[in-house]
Amino acid sequence: MMKNIRIFDTTLRDGEQAPGGSLSIEEKVRIAKQLANLGVDVIEPGFPISSQGEFTAVQQISRDLLHVEICGFARAVTEDINRAIEATQDATKRSLHLFISSSDIHLDFQLKKSRDQVIQIAREKVAYAKQFVDRIEFSPMDASRTGNEFLLEMVEAVVAEGATLINIPDTVGFALPNEYGQIFKMLKNNVRGGKHVEYSAHCHNDLGMAVANSLAAIEAGATQIEVTVNGIGERAGNCSLEELVMAIETRKEALGVQTNINTEEIFETSRLVSRIMNFPIAFNKPIVGRNAFQHEAGIHQDGLLKNRNTYEIMNPEKLGVPREMIILGKHSGRHAIKHRVSEMGVPLNPTQLEDLYTRFKAFADQHKSVTDEQLAQLVGKATNTV
Ligand code: KIV
Ligand code: ZN
Repeated sequence: MMKNIRIFDTTLRDGEQAPGGSLSIEEKVRIAKQLANLGVDVIEPGFPISSQGEFTAVQQISRDLLHVEICGFARAVTEDINRAIEATQDATKRSLHLFISSSDIHLDFQLKKSRDQVIQIAREKVAYAKQFVDRIEFSPMDASRTGNEFLLEMVEAVVAEGATLINIPDTVGFALPNEYGQIFKMLKNNVRGGKHVEYSAHCHNDLGMAVANSLAAIEAGATQIEVTVNGIGERAGNCSLEELVMAIETRKEALGVQTNINTEEIFETSRLVSRIMNFPIAFNKPIVGRNAFQHEAGIHQDGLLKNRNTYEIMNPEKLGVPREMIILGKHSGRHAIKHRVSEMGVPLNPTQLEDLYTRFKAFADQHKSVTDEQLAQLVGKATNTV
């Protein structure tokens, strides 16, 4: 039996913290609606205490999106909690995400509080929030640099007060996959009174390991993963929704898990977020980059024409990606050129093909790639029709 992994989308909260990524209320609502089409299980639409605009956006999304869980976000501070509770009041399904730092470096330099004080605050605020919302997610910020002993103490304290979901942020993207997985195993095996507790992963991508770390968390028993579209977020960003979902989708049998994501909406969602946030997508970005399903090498093109599985592990059409499987360029072979020309409906005899091939190579040597229009021109010359 496949286990279901909840996809918690924080594009509109942590993702919006990407430098220059700030969104208006209308833009947030537009993206939230698309996230609902995509089938995410939870949306964290913003940080209600941070501004009136943020509050209104969270409130509007809570009112408009009736079929998705909406998660309010708050520091372990009474005013934050009150604002988050108020903003999500009208959601059909809601939860509250509370956080406070747990690593010594954060306690000493940022909070300037002792471990005992921080545990006390965490306890009090979870108990306070529990009066209003049943589903409480708690994050010990910088959890991956906290150390097992204190992390366990903090998690036990908040679970005792009613936290139902424990999120383990790798806030600075420092953890290695095996270390990160071990944290989940340690908590699952040791938290007193924690049988009913669920675990969530929240990974940053500073060392390019956010997806690998999230998969390690899944293997260690996490049932929720926090992600952003296109992996946007602070610094190098967060675990990318499309990469994680497609890793699960493509390696479902090996991982034994699945998600509720409607993969056909991935491309559309990615482009929408990129456009609205004015955030270009790297050409070679997995899943949604321009080149992710394009093949230039002659050997690859030849293989693909015989059987797509030779060089393709995902069907781009299932992601809503328009299929442009083959890019013609100086590495292309006769086979691919002939195939593209036949798709244009032009029959070539062997002499014409040879002539076209020679012209094509000369042209491609001078250009980065050869478009269909340019190819048509070359075909015209090879067949003496222009
Ligand atoms: O990266 C982080 O630590 C966070 C938490 C507040 C969940 O975004
Ligand atoms: Zn984060």
